[in-house]
Amino acid sequence: MLDYGANTTTGDVLQGHDLTGRHFMVTGASSGLGEESSRALSNAGATVTMLARNTEKLDKAIERIRSNVPSADLRVGIVDLADLASIRSYAAEFLETDAAIDVLINNAGIMACPFMKTADDFEMQFGTNHIGHFLLTNLLMSAIQAGQNPRIINLSSAGHTHSDVDLEDPNFENTEYNAWESYGRSKSANIHFTRELVRRYGNELQSFAVHPGVIMTDLGRHLTQELMDEMTERVKSRATSSEEAKEFGGLPFKTMEAGAATQVWAATTNDLTDNNGAYLGDCKIGIEGGNPSENGYLPYIYNEETAKSLWALSEKFVQQKFSI
Ligand SMILES: NC(=O)c1ccc[n+]([C@@H]2O[C@H](COP(=O)([O-])OP(=O)(O)OC[C@H]3O[C@@H](n4cnc5c(N)ncnc54)[C@H](OP(=O)(O)O)[C@@H]3O)[C@@H](O)[C@H]2O)c1
Repeated sequence: MLDYGANTTTGDVLQGHDLTGRHFMVTGASSGLGEESSRALSNAGATVTMLARNTEKLDKAIERIRSNVPSADLRVGIVDLADLASIRSYAAEFLETDAAIDVLINNAGIMACPFMKTADDFEMQFGTNHIGHFLLTNLLMSAIQAGQNPRIINLSSAGHTHSDVDLEDPNFENTEYNAWESYGRSKSANIHFTRELVRRYGNELQSFAVHPGVIMTDLGRHLTQELMDEMTERVKSRATSSEEAKEFGGLPFKTMEAGAATQVWAATTNDLTDNNGAYLGDCKIGIEGGNPSENGYLPYIYNEETAKSLWALSEKFVQQKFSI
């Protein structure tokens, strides 16, 4: 494995890769890490289907990519992950094309928003970040299984350290809402989903959960000073070392190219075959108890029973069973 780290970029991980003929689908591709992943992958020759809910925003992202990669082979899809009907409609439309998906990057996300609900009455962060991707992925599974060396990459976050999933009250019906708690639950759910996909489909596909680092994107749109202060306190209190606590005073921001590198690496490298289902950060395999700002994770995210239960609960919520 090459000596990658926090400053590794999408260009570094794709060096020497010719992705011509490979089909990647990226959710949340209208900005930030989804846009940069789409740009970098198409620059290496891939066909990329960019999914977003806002057509105008997606068109602008495509314009920016084309100005950088004139030959980019881009397709588009409009889907609102906070609306199960929209997901079902898009998946049905896509499956009619008979196209295979080699890699699905479940990148879309919303962070620390005020208490809101999706079209189907799920709490917004749980509903968008987890339930939406759970349904989309499972509905597209036949196309993914038809892909070459298929993979599913789920964007998680160091934010998983705020909280594990709450299987009893996932929609904050009986618990006081906390924006960071909710984000943490949803980002832990992304990892449990990854683990359960691998437990179920093991030899048929690879799946990885990714912490991209800290990058200035539209993700911070809901942040207030109060939420920032709360996050700082949370990180300091969970810091694995005084170094991390000190370091957090000046957040180690990454460039967009370094931020998208871990998901693009997970989507394309052959170095992770023996680590199917792993949590990744800074283009490295996760380390239990390590520094969460890098590639450290808390042990609860690898709990097999939680992953199985979350899958069952998610099936109940979308009112559809997905068996293998
Ligand atoms: N940036 C970071 O520091 C950081 C750190 C850790 C993890 N992450 C993870 O990285 C991923 C990408 O985030 P980013 O930083 O690139 O943020 P971003 O620029 O805000 O991108 C998020 C994307 O998700 C889309 N999205 C949100 N809700 C959606 C919905 N209901 N249906 C369809 N698309 C929806 C957004 O579209 P709209 O603009 O239309 O809402 C946007 O295209 C997220 O999963 C996030 O949790 C980011």
